[in-house]
Amino acid sequence: MSHLDAPSVIRVKRDGGVLSNEAIDWVIDAYTHDRVADAQMSALLMAIFLRGMTTAEIARWTAAMIDSGERLDFTDLRRDGAPLALVDKHSTGGVGDKITIPLVPVVMACGGAVPQAAGRGLGHTGGTLDKLESIPGFTAEITKTQIRQQLCDIGAAIFAAGELAPADRKIYALRDVTGTTESLPLIASSVMSKKIAEGTRALVLDCKVGSGAFLATEAESRELARTMVDLGTEHGLLTRALLTDMSVPLGRTVGNAVEVVESLEVLEGGGPEDVVELTLALAREMLDAAGIDGVDPAQTLRDGSAMDRFRELVAAQGGDVGSLTAEALPLGAHKETVTAPGGGTMGDIDAMAVGLAVWRLGAGRSEPGQRVQFGAGMRIHRRPGEPVAAGEPLFTLYTDTPDRFAPALGELDGGWSVGAEPPTTRPLVIDRIM
Ligand code: URA
Repeated sequence: MSHLDAPSVIRVKRDGGVLSNEAIDWVIDAYTHDRVADAQMSALLMAIFLRGMTTAEIARWTAAMIDSGERLDFTDLRRDGAPLALVDKHSTGGVGDKITIPLVPVVMACGGAVPQAAGRGLGHTGGTLDKLESIPGFTAEITKTQIRQQLCDIGAAIFAAGELAPADRKIYALRDVTGTTESLPLIASSVMSKKIAEGTRALVLDCKVGSGAFLATEAESRELARTMVDLGTEHGLLTRALLTDMSVPLGRTVGNAVEVVESLEVLEGGGPEDVVELTLALAREMLDAAGIDGVDPAQTLRDGSAMDRFRELVAAQGGDVGSLTAEALPLGAHKETVTAPGGGTMGDIDAMAVGLAVWRLGAGRSEPGQRVQFGAGMRIHRRPGEPVAAGEPLFTLYTDTPDRFAPALGELDGGWSVGAEPPTTRPLVIDRIM
């Protein structure tokens, strides 16, 4: 029996101390096996949020989360006699960040194999699994055997982390409802425990910067990227990161099914410029990290091969490919439109305000395990810098529960403006960290 107990571990961090390796290993294991209560872990997470962690503590916390479950290994898999070019991407969380949906099929079409353990919505940010599950029949709860089969047959699987880093599954859900998401050590360990356990060989991180990112400043996002790249490298994973702008939402849709619809537009060779640009920038990084050269990811969007791969992926995971249209995917039964008070140019649209508004519409959770509304979301009719005529629609909000409009509109209020001057433009890809 361990001599450690939760109140003592919590007190060490509450008072600004450094957790011992033994305390970290114990608390992660005990929480995973329900010997530490949610209330106690919530208190510890809040203490970590407020006090931070040393680099050594983050490394040990991450290793303990990896050891809480199994570690997948695909190195034995072959396609046409050759080992798979295993490569994945993970975002630190954004608003309108549907990039995984077009990106995975682009990389599949270029010859990569993507084992993607994806997450559900966290805080004001959306989750890839909540978006994909809006496709009727699609399931992310697939077995290891199926993941291996899909990687060999079609080159990708997008799955709920399941038995990978189960400590993260519990802590992630708890952070989502206890105001403890925006913490560098907790984000770094959450992302990297899943990604190290999932069995990829190379990893590209999309580390967000700006109001819609979890961390407030560019300096903190840089530190997060550096921390994650170092954690991956220490565990033998070829890891690199792009720092990308998340001060305005990506694309023109934010929510669940509405983001799938926009992803389909990208896969058809259209879609918003920023979504296409980031998809291709990340695809190039992934292909480079996987050692695949001589292919142009943009061509896979033009020639429809990425769309074909997406259909294969959806079908392999039980999804109805016949519903991959704007008409067939769910859309909230009620809508509310925000119109322009006057003419001019659309100014900045605050990603955090939009993320919170969409969360209030029902696209995310306020209690663990809550069902999200697949049809909840927002269309952004005018992006920053676009001309606006007085009275025209700027935002359309969708939900199945109309009493959510008032709080959602409250979040959006003050998060956008129409003025005489165009807003300052920012590069989408800010830096590359290796
Ligand atoms: N993605 C994760 O998996 N975890 C976080 O904490 C943030 C983004």
